[in-house]
Amino acid sequence: MDNIRYNFIVRRLATLGAIATLTLCFLAAVSGVLLAFYYSPSTREAFASIERISTEVPNGWLIRSLHDIAGNGLIVVSLVQIVVMFLGRQFRLGWLTAWISGIFLTLSAIALSWTAMNLEWTQTGYWRLTLELGIIESIPAIGHSLREFLTGGEGIGTITLQHLFTLHSYVLSIVATILSIVHLIGLLIQERQEKQLQALAIETDTPKAPQQNQSDITPPASEIEDDRKFNPSQGIA
Ligand code: HEM
Repeated sequence: MDNIRYNFIVRRLATLGAIATLTLCFLAAVSGVLLAFYYSPSTREAFASIERISTEVPNGWLIRSLHDIAGNGLIVVSLVQIVVMFLGRQFRLGWLTAWISGIFLTLSAIALSWTAMNLEWTQTGYWRLTLELGIIESIPAIGHSLREFLTGGEGIGTITLQHLFTLHSYVLSIVATILSIVHLIGLLIQERQEKQLQALAIETDTPKAPQQNQSDITPPASEIEDDRKFNPSQGIA
């Protein structure tokens, strides 16, 4: 009984977590598109455009904060979700789909945060990116090509900003949205299967009424005859 209750709680938590990740992803994507109306991905304009969003654009600060909270919240919720799904440990198709898509969703949320690190074009972002590109370059075999792909050449400049912005706003955000939808669908399929299994278990556990045959229900003809003959209010006919 305890095990059933534990599974039920974990499944409900996972489904709620999946709804939360999809909502956060949706909010981040919508607020990101709104930011993109005013953001310029170039070394000359990036910082000033973000400043303009925060100070001049009507409700710009609100959209920026919403994007910040939804984007970073997505990382936190999807990490918690991985723990919840681990505690659930079920190996049916729905759960496995949700488990794998959840892991990739967390990775893409981290990648979204990483690609956003330098979008504002600040000193901190620049030096962090320089340091991390050095680490990426040290990966054997693919390191150098990966660095070139991310920077768009040797140095960090406008092309780098455009590459990071494209990865962030088109590639990764679409991947994250698809993954969060797959994640929720996987868990809904699991819920449905679980309900069907429970219904089946209840059906097989319910004690059946003993088989009655016609002779149990219908009294013998002689008794009917006797009943007809004996009427307490009228006496024997
Ligand atoms: C699933 C979708 C998305 C997620 C999870 C996400 C996540 C993030 C995160 C974590 C940041 C850093 C915020 C900070 O710490 O200040 C950020 C910044 C940014 N994102 Fe997104 N993002 C998403 C979609 C988009 C889209 C679709 C666009 C544009 C079309 C976009 C444009 C931007 C811009 C311009 C910034 C820099 C703004 C700033 O520094 O305040 N994002 N995003």
